Amino acid sequence: MAKLFINENKKLGKINEEIYGHFSEHLGRCIYEGLYVGENSEIPNVNGMRSDVVDALREMKIPVLRWPGGCFADEYHWKDGIGPKEGRKKMINTHWGGVLEDNSFGTHEFMELCEQLGCKTYVNGNVGSGTVQEMSEWIEYMTFDGISPMADLRRKNGREKPWKVDYFGVGNENWGCGGNMTPEYYANLYRRYQTYVRDYSGQGGTAKICCGANGDDYHWTEKVMEVACDHTPQKDHGRMNGLSLHYYTVPNNWDKKGSATQFAEQDWYLTLRKALYMEELIQKHGAVLDQYDPEKQIGLMVDEWGCWFDVEPGTNPGFLYQQNTMRDALVACVTLNIFNKHCDRVKMANIAQLVNVLQSVILTEGAKMLLTPTYYVFRMYKYHQNAQLLDSTLETAAVGEGENTVPKISESVSLAEDGAIHITLGNLSANEAEDVEISFYENKGRTVSGSILTGAIAAHNTFENPDEVKEQAFTTYSLSPQGILKVTVPACSVVHLEVKA
Ligand code: AHR
Repeated sequence: MAKLFINENKKLGKINEEIYGHFSEHLGRCIYEGLYVGENSEIPNVNGMRSDVVDALREMKIPVLRWPGGCFADEYHWKDGIGPKEGRKKMINTHWGGVLEDNSFGTHEFMELCEQLGCKTYVNGNVGSGTVQEMSEWIEYMTFDGISPMADLRRKNGREKPWKVDYFGVGNENWGCGGNMTPEYYANLYRRYQTYVRDYSGQGGTAKICCGANGDDYHWTEKVMEVACDHTPQKDHGRMNGLSLHYYTVPNNWDKKGSATQFAEQDWYLTLRKALYMEELIQKHGAVLDQYDPEKQIGLMVDEWGCWFDVEPGTNPGFLYQQNTMRDALVACVTLNIFNKHCDRVKMANIAQLVNVLQSVILTEGAKMLLTPTYYVFRMYKYHQNAQLLDSTLETAAVGEGENTVPKISESVSLAEDGAIHITLGNLSANEAEDVEISFYENKGRTVSGSILTGAIAAHNTFENPDEVKEQAFTTYSLSPQGILKVTVPACSVVHLEVKA
């Protein structure tokens, strides 16, 4: 039996809603078909955005969306994607699959999508192959309300008022696909480029994100912070509001990652162990950040994370299309629990990618759409958004074998504004249920309700059987007169409990 003690009187900080963020890239069928089908499509849409997908994402409460990449961002020239569609440049997406990119989805379409989703905007600029002028003009185009060449151009293209760019990324993976730079070289470029990411609103409306490390490259973090950070006593963090981190859960190695659906129990534990490594990364990069920013004003933005498996057999290898099973659900569960627990430093995270690519929450096939197990985890966890992290302590057994031993139970707990306590639990065992005894600091009269996502380790939804795995009502719990909540969590499952006084 596992034991969870919750001190509902000890709030540890706000869980930023952006931790539940997503990432859309011009990659495979993410943008085209997955999100955008065009105004003339037979697939029901509003201004080209497919309505089934928008509705599902609203229901999941998507808080922020990153665009246009990824590696695509450092090859993207925003002026190719504005103005009348027939005049937009047609080109080859050299990075992803060598397919035609007709630029029919550009800045206006991204902003329209975010308006329909009701989410914040995260635009990633081009440092690798773009100029300072190009980046500066993009910001002017999107955010300036006065008279200027770019604001006038925006109006000419049909948008009177500026948009809000909540987050702006100054390059992506500049240690790799974004220009193969050294940290010192990039950090100097960061200082220069970010200068021209002007605050036209005058209200500090756009948070600037500096390109951070690949996985455990702490040297990158050290050097970038040393060079790009403001060391004056004023510590002008306006120069840097966030530092990104990319980490993907790859079961084996980059050449042979492993199948998304055909895997054994040992792969299950191996994958979960690798997902749990996120905690060490946050702690160690966080320790470097603490040296420069002890007040924790610079957020660690994990703006790419998730499972990365071999592509679905028979699909374009450059599209990175993969299926999504209960293993992905548990990876999402443990990762989101880790982010919640480190909400003092992790201010945003964006799982890759929203639709039809890596660990997607939605898959589409023509007019058909399905929700993946990962979708349900995000929907079950939405109650943590903007809630207060509560102090919780867990005693749990371990499961797995040898090196691939993981805690059996994963948890995080938060307090919502309406006073409800939200507990999310994962049982990482492939085949054993676990009882969890939950106690609170105070014994008050409480009521409990909950939902569960469960199935065999490789269970997943297909277009033939889209409801094989779905969120269901959860009932295997009891509340004692002493206020102890006893819960039986089936093997391989994710549970959300709402506890009200
Ligand atoms: O998510 C796919 C790619 O992975 C992104 O484009 C890039 O940033 C990362 O290497």
